[in-house]
Amino acid sequence: MWQSDCIWCLKLLLFLFVVSHFGTHGRQQWPVPYRRFDSRPDVDSYCEALYPFCPTGDPDGRIPSMKDDDVISIYRLQTPVWEWKYGDLLGKLHIMHDAVGFSSLETGANYTMEWYELFQLGNCTFPHLRLEMKAPFWCNQGAACFFEGIDDLHWSQNGTLEKIGEISGSQFNDLAQWVQDDNRTGIYYETWTVLSDPGPNATVWFESYDCSQFVHRTYRKLKELGAKLSSRSQTNYTKIYLYSGEPTFLGNDSDIFGQPALKNLASDIRRFYYSFRPHQSFAELAVSLLEAFTDVVLDKSFYLFYNFEYWHLPMKPPYMQITYEEVPLP
Ligand SMILES: *[C@@H]1O[C@H](CO)[C@@H](O)[C@H](O)[C@H]1NC(C)=O
Ligand SMILES: *[C@@H]1O[C@H](CO)[C@@H](O)[C@H](O)[C@H]1NC(C)=O
Ligand SMILES: *[C@@H]1O[C@H](CO)[C@@H](O)[C@H](O)[C@H]1NC(C)=O
Ligand SMILES: *[C@@H]1O[C@H](CO)[C@@H](O)[C@H](O)[C@H]1NC(C)=O
Ligand SMILES: *[C@@H]1O[C@H](CO)[C@@H](O)[C@H](O)[C@H]1NC(C)=O
Ligand SMILES: *[C@@H]1O[C@H](CO)[C@@H](O)[C@H](O)[C@H]1NC(C)=O
Ligand SMILES: *[C@@H]1O[C@H](CO)[C@@H](O)[C@H](O)[C@H]1NC(C)=O
Repeated sequence: MWQSDCIWCLKLLLFLFVVSHFGTHGRQQWPVPYRRFDSRPDVDSYCEALYPFCPTGDPDGRIPSMKDDDVISIYRLQTPVWEWKYGDLLGKLHIMHDAVGFSSLETGANYTMEWYELFQLGNCTFPHLRLEMKAPFWCNQGAACFFEGIDDLHWSQNGTLEKIGEISGSQFNDLAQWVQDDNRTGIYYETWTVLSDPGPNATVWFESYDCSQFVHRTYRKLKELGAKLSSRSQTNYTKIYLYSGEPTFLGNDSDIFGQPALKNLASDIRRFYYSFRPHQSFAELAVSLLEAFTDVVLDKSFYLFYNFEYWHLPMKPPYMQITYEEVPLP
């Protein structure tokens, strides 16, 4: 008697919580805004980088200050991460990594600026299931890396190295301040963009937060600071899409994994992520994606972790797609 009352009570509380989550701001806002933090928390020591993050950058993330009247050139940088034949299902994956380059007329020094995962793509896309923990554990931080030098060959041989504009030293210094604020408040990597359908009028449920989104934010900031950007070629970027009906909010770790009443949901989420265990390389990730793809298609169900909260996606065809599409310069 007491126990069932208690469970009923918890369910009611959860229901009220869900209602208030949607109720207080009227309708749910789409896309769900990416959450900004006051500061970047320390990384949990469980997460281990296979390759050190930003090995040649300043350890404190400092960006050198330019003379106000210096002329700084801006470069668009792009290089393939991986090219993979995904059977006949999706065709050739065109996975590119994006960055921005700068060079100073005054000193002749040049710099590369990019935003990427601290613990590789697999760890940002899927969590670890740890025996001692109920909730899936994420090593999903991403951050900006600014370092001296542009490796011309690396970018130009199979990708792009193109000058797209110029700014003054003082504009560059303003940009540097913005990069540091952006880096402090935007702390986690999000692989997926979630859309209602592949058509031109699709609703965007969730935006990704990855290297190319950082490049787009940087270009928009440069424009705001007065830069004129232009490219002679088409500016295409890799996007990884999921397609689903309207997502349902589920809650954060303590809401889901701390509630006995929700143990079925909790174990379903763990079961779901079991097939998506993070692997070491992108190649292995691609293979396990293909395996897990079948589950997603059969169950039409996906659990998305966004802003450190879980959402349920009622998946629909074509379920998942990787595209390389144009995003014009601002
Ligand atoms: C992913 O995280 C695990 C656990 O921290 C770590 O052992 C592994 O090195 C990470 N993978 C990569 C590719 O960094
Ligand atoms: C961004 O944050 C990371 C992680 O704390 C740090 O290593 C990096 O230096 C920072 N980058 C910049 C440009 O501030
Ligand atoms: C960057 O500097 C290096 C070393 O001086 C030089 O070889 C390279 O061409 C420069 N690249 C750009 C895009 O300015
Ligand atoms: C560009 O692609 C060719 C052919 O796949 C490869 O041999 C070469 O090493 C690549 N260049 C760079 C800088 O990775
Ligand atoms: C998209 O929306 C526009 C403007 O409302 C409309 O003209 C167009 O037909 C729509 N396209 C599709 C494919 O629904
Ligand atoms: C989870 O959400 C609840 C309700 O909004 C909040 O009180 C709690 O602090 C959150 N827990 C974590 C770990 O963020
Ligand atoms: C670049 O994007 C445009 C439009 O999104 C597309 O038509 C074109 O095929 C893409 N280019 C490449 C090389 O994929």
